[in-house]
Amino acid sequence: MSNKQSDKPANLNKFEKIKAEKDGLTVKDELENFAQIGWEAMEKSDLEHRLKWVGVFYRPVTPGKFMLRMRTPNGILSSNQLRVLAEIVQRYGGDGSADITTRQNIQLRGIRLEDIPDIFRRLDAVGMTSMQSGMDNVRNITGSPVAGIDGSELIDTRELVQKVQDAITNNGEGNYAFTNLPRKFNIAIEGGRDNSVHAEINDIAFVPAYKNGELGFNVLVGGFFSAKRCEAAIPMNAWVRPNDDVVDLSKAILSVFRDRGSRANRQKSRLMWLIDQLGIDEFRSIVEQEFGRTLATAAESDEIDWEKRDCIGVHKQKQPGLNYVGLHVPVGRLYAQDMFDLAGLAEVYGSCEVRLTVEQNVIIPNILDDNLPDLLTEPLLKKFTIKPQPLERALVSCTGSQFCNFALVETKNRALAIAQQLDAELDIPKSVRIHWTGCPNSCGQPQVADIGLMGTKVRKDGKTIEGVDLYMGGKVGKDAQLGTCVQKGIACDDLNSVLRRILIESFGAKPK
Ligand code: HEM
Ligand code: SF4
Repeated sequence: MSNKQSDKPANLNKFEKIKAEKDGLTVKDELENFAQIGWEAMEKSDLEHRLKWVGVFYRPVTPGKFMLRMRTPNGILSSNQLRVLAEIVQRYGGDGSADITTRQNIQLRGIRLEDIPDIFRRLDAVGMTSMQSGMDNVRNITGSPVAGIDGSELIDTRELVQKVQDAITNNGEGNYAFTNLPRKFNIAIEGGRDNSVHAEINDIAFVPAYKNGELGFNVLVGGFFSAKRCEAAIPMNAWVRPNDDVVDLSKAILSVFRDRGSRANRQKSRLMWLIDQLGIDEFRSIVEQEFGRTLATAAESDEIDWEKRDCIGVHKQKQPGLNYVGLHVPVGRLYAQDMFDLAGLAEVYGSCEVRLTVEQNVIIPNILDDNLPDLLTEPLLKKFTIKPQPLERALVSCTGSQFCNFALVETKNRALAIAQQLDAELDIPKSVRIHWTGCPNSCGQPQVADIGLMGTKVRKDGKTIEGVDLYMGGKVGKDAQLGTCVQKGIACDDLNSVLRRILIESFGAKPK
């Protein structure tokens, strides 16, 4: 693999050196051995870094209890797959749980390394993989959560998302062509009008657009967040048909990024930095050469013209007599029993399928009109309600200090407690999207929220305590826009009153 960018070996960052020593993907053939020798005996770089190439995350906060990040293309799981995930976490008792992530994905907790070979066999048996889900790889590929069932859909994204994943991971076997990128990489394919995937924050986003009356995708590139810089994706001036061109163009862009992206400073390794360096026109023409045929120029406008929907509640499908039901999963946290119950509901009332959303919630599709009333009285719908309170409804949170070593604050429990309290105190006319993220890495995307809260440490009364920086102004949907930091260093203890004031002054809330 050539690195045309002339980063001299001496200039390579620490992670490039680790990858140069031994490709991350090679650990896929060493798992039996690791399981036998145990994690304490593993070489540090394998344990802490290379295992992420197969989705296995060593968690320094809970040594010996690993996180397993799956791939869930388009957020779709069969009830069988969900059951297998439930069985995997069930065996870890109180340590086992799962989180729905803001990439429409699922992360399992409490995993023991000695079980990994068996877990991988069981995942394989139901067509699931965690291949290339961490580190310098293409992350879970997101698509419209209501693909194929939404009456106003333009393009069904399901097959395309799966094809792109299969090409990048070699059908889940691992693909050396795309596993040593300069940095992580996000791809999203939107098929509806409401920008359900947050196109703007992906390295490649395909958004529906008509060109000369034909439906295809305009292509956006370079969107990303990092601690030091956040950029929305920009138009690449390209339009593709909704067929294998989507796969080929993704591969072409990835190849250009792999071969030319900077590997010196990891803070400057995401795709946008390469686009900056080349200029978007030069970038496009290099991609076109790699694509191997003429790229059509972009359609004049795209079809994203709706506000974003959250899919919670009961919704008619495009298929007459069928409905999808969006359940609210508080901060995305699931336990084994929840997963068994969800799988059961999908089997009894639906079509043995569940879907995940980037708001960390669940959708059960294909429910007959006649079956709706019974479904709505199921006990699980008390926990995962279809009518959450306005703040809880749109609450999103990253992992935080419970499991993540980067975290500066506890997030999920605190986020939920504050939202519940403010929901109880205030009448809020419309759901307000509050996003929590435990540190500047921004996994919880505070920049897309109405109110974003980023963990930090603050000094109060001579002590260092947990606090947040406040972000506002994020907009999603048709005129998506990134929010910015408006106030720094609010102690978490003071957050209730600060948020209360903001909700009253800026979001029309009234004390009850
Ligand atoms: C240098 C930057 C970053 C680092 C070092 C980093 C690291 C991590 C780690 C260690 C986890 C796993 C924590 C756990 O669940 O145990 C995680 C989760 C995650 N990260 Fe990041 N991350 C970075 C930036 C980002 C950005 C910019 C995004 C996208 C906006 C992102 C998206 C996610 C998602 C979706 C998860 C799953 C948990 C969730 O839904 O919040 N990460 N990240
Ligand atoms: S934002 Fe920070 S604390 Fe939250 S998951 Fe990402 S790295 Fe961990």
